[in-house]
Amino acid sequence: MIKNDLLLRALRGEEVERPPVWMMRQAGRYLPEFIELRDKYDFFTRCQTPELAAEITVQPIRRFPLDAAIIFSDILVVPQAMGMDFEMRPGVGPWLENPIRTLQDVENIPVVDVEEELGYVYAAMDLTKKELDNNIPLIGFAGSPWTILCYAVEGQGSKSFDKAKSFCFKNPIAAHMLLEKITQTTIDYLLKKVEHGANVIQIFDSWGGMLSPADYDEFSWKYIERIVNEVSKVVPVTVFAKGCWFALEKMADSNASGLGVDWTITPELARQFTGNKKTLQGNFDPARLLSPPEKIQELVVDMIDRFGTQKYIANLGHGILPNVPVENAQAFIEAVVNYKKK
Ligand code: CP3
Repeated sequence: MIKNDLLLRALRGEEVERPPVWMMRQAGRYLPEFIELRDKYDFFTRCQTPELAAEITVQPIRRFPLDAAIIFSDILVVPQAMGMDFEMRPGVGPWLENPIRTLQDVENIPVVDVEEELGYVYAAMDLTKKELDNNIPLIGFAGSPWTILCYAVEGQGSKSFDKAKSFCFKNPIAAHMLLEKITQTTIDYLLKKVEHGANVIQIFDSWGGMLSPADYDEFSWKYIERIVNEVSKVVPVTVFAKGCWFALEKMADSNASGLGVDWTITPELARQFTGNKKTLQGNFDPARLLSPPEKIQELVVDMIDRFGTQKYIANLGHGILPNVPVENAQAFIEAVVNYKKK
């Protein structure tokens, strides 16, 4: 039993005293204690060393009254397990020397045993669960198949992911085979995360908004839905699809418990698209954490007033930025924790 189960209750649509709060990328570069470890160990060493990953996961929990922890890792550990040798290059970000560009490349991707390849993630989760001592839930996550395809084909980040899109449009058979392989691996990976203590699973579809609504259905949502259908049998699932307001109506009819929204949609429209069917999560503009703490407090109260206190999880509309002062992140969290209905 989790002592503070606000997040789980909000996801089940049960009554809560106030909305739960956590921040996407809460274990990150705005924390001095994170930077200390970042300067000593490279990114994937931090991910692959269970003691480091567990330590980084609990760093924000020691500082702030957060209602959930999210395991420190990356969405790219899944394609790495499938044989794609992603690196994190300073100043560049994710980098794959030999991107996936042909049907042959896709056919060469092996079926892997996630337990064997990603045992370090599970070991990090076991350590984290001990540290959390059932005080708050632990969130596990994975990238959506489409978002993973974006990096696998493009080989790096991009403003438009045009190489990934042209691969899908010119070579749909290879694209669907790749999406299929990622989907299967992701389902195995996430079900094992639940065995290792994940209380909630979040799917990050960071680049879903690059696709038109019709292409979104074909290349992204279809695969996310399969993951959601399997994983939601064991824990609540949240889907955060950045830029995908157009898909909210369809998502509201899925087995997801929570839907993440970014800051480009109003709470009213997000509610209108999803009815009262789902718990919504979001959607504070991460750059608004650069406002003075008093302004942050005011904006958070307005956000909760508009989403409502029920079926709602306060969060940012995307990951926290590295240049956010710690006091401002604290002001955001405390504004939710101290929220009083007018
Ligand atoms: O939320 C959390 O605190 C958990 C940790 C987490 C990380 N990455 C750690 C991380 C999560 C949930 C992710 C997911 C992730 N990774 C996504 C989806 C969410 C999103 O932001 O859209 C994506 C697209 C990635 C791929 C990735 N990893 C990118 C684009 C980058 C940034 C590269 C850069 O140049 O900054 C990363 C690196 C990364 N992952 C960092 C962290 C804290 C920062 C780099 C570092 O610490 O060295």
